[in-house]
Amino acid sequence: MTAIDLGYVVQLAFLIGAAFFALGLHQMNSPATARRGNRLSATGMTIAVVAELIYVGYRGVEPGNWLIIGGGMVVGGAIGLRMARTVAMTSMPQLVSLFNAVGGGAAGLLAIDDFIRLSSQRTPEGALAALDGWLIFFILVDVIVGSVTFTGSLIASAKLMGRLKGQPIVFPGGRLLSAVALVLAISCSIVLVLSGTGLFNYDASVMDLLLMVALASALVFGVTMVLPIGGADMPVVISLLNAFTGSAVAMAGFVVGNVILIVAGALVGASGAILTKLMADAMNRSIANILVGGFGAAEGSQAALTGAGGTVREVSVDDAAIQLAYASKVVIVPGYGLAVAQAQHGVRELADLLEARGVDVSYAIHPVAGRMPGHMNVLLAEANVPYPQLKEMDEINPEFERTDVALVVGANDVTNPAARTDRSSPIFGMPILDVDHARSIIVMKRSMGRGYAGIDNPLYVNPKTGMYFADAKAGLAKLIAAIKAQ
Ligand code: TAP
Repeated sequence: MTAIDLGYVVQLAFLIGAAFFALGLHQMNSPATARRGNRLSATGMTIAVVAELIYVGYRGVEPGNWLIIGGGMVVGGAIGLRMARTVAMTSMPQLVSLFNAVGGGAAGLLAIDDFIRLSSQRTPEGALAALDGWLIFFILVDVIVGSVTFTGSLIASAKLMGRLKGQPIVFPGGRLLSAVALVLAISCSIVLVLSGTGLFNYDASVMDLLLMVALASALVFGVTMVLPIGGADMPVVISLLNAFTGSAVAMAGFVVGNVILIVAGALVGASGAILTKLMADAMNRSIANILVGGFGAAEGSQAALTGAGGTVREVSVDDAAIQLAYASKVVIVPGYGLAVAQAQHGVRELADLLEARGVDVSYAIHPVAGRMPGHMNVLLAEANVPYPQLKEMDEINPEFERTDVALVVGANDVTNPAARTDRSSPIFGMPILDVDHARSIIVMKRSMGRGYAGIDNPLYVNPKTGMYFADAKAGLAKLIAAIKAQ
């Protein structure tokens, strides 16, 4: 087979790989098919990598380079596999963020390598004759977006891992530093792009210096962009950085002329951007508002005792057990506290027990319950909760009026009726689960502590609400025992 023939076969393999990515992504739309979608996408990536390796091998690679490629794949693959297998579900956002950093960094390095390679073909006068304006544009966008993603994602994961303070970190001159870094990165890039078109004719060392300044400024901007953002806003930022990674990879694809990188990068970039927008909408915040930072500062106030200006009715485990055992329809509303307590198996056991008694049980899933997209779906899937029992917000809300008991487990903001009624509330306008429409409500949480938004929840002083103060895991175990004793 000639190199040209093999080239066609490789392009065909890339096309098949790309089709697998798109189909896999589509299957991730539903929890029922998400695992299959993930496997399909991984197969597409394997096809693409194998095809590329065969092509690279055919064109001839130094033995030392095989060692680097093989070593990178084995070491990187082993680390990735171990991290993915051992990560706790609640630590998933920081893992995704670390992977983002690696992806963005790799795309940036690829672009720098190309810049160095192509600029070695400079004319004696110094112009980047080998680079046309578009190519250098893609290289620069790749370097900047990749670098911002690299440092931004590292800061984001350090915050979520608790290595850095989770609250917004602001320091005098921080915003100015951000602005200066951004302006520097963009202006150096513009000069380099224009020189690619032949407009300027700088000396080679000046070009290298401009690239280094653009690179350093982008790295600084990544840090200063993420530091002022509150830890709990980080999932939205991580999703945004994920979109950046995708764009950087697509740009790298343009630079090295690799179709699969362009397709994979575009898919990640587009889906990351859509997810970011959906998350921001579900929190009734703009992306700009999240990036400006400050909101997550209230998260530390979990222990605050709040009464929302009314009387709180506490219920015992036996009261709660009787209400649930003799209900016909129960809706379980999981939230962040369920994830923290790792109480997903308990909630499943409770649901099974109630169903065995003839109670109709379903779960109300709010799009931003917890701290990452799909957090509740992932947790409940881990406990093998049947997918048909999971009801999205729009589907379950009309059902609350026919619900005997809404059992809220570790959820707070996503059930806060102030979002519907109180114009002064920071979450006003955020779509919520209408649990207050149920005939009665049981809220299981440890205290009157606030949720992520740091605000009071009038649901807790609603006469229909009984507060069952307990850790979600321990509280569910007691509740199950009490129902069994009925
Ligand atoms: P939150 O409003 O954060 O409330 C969680 C509640 O869980 C707290 O009030 C806490 O009360 C309780 N809790 C904590 N540990 C517990 C435990 N061990 N056992 C029982 N309860 C426990 O959670 P939510 O209703 O799921 O809302 C999510 C919030 O996060 C929203 O404001 C959303 O905008 C925001 N957010 C979400 C995302 C995504 S993508 N999901 C991203 C960023 C921000 P006690 O301390 O009294 O127990």
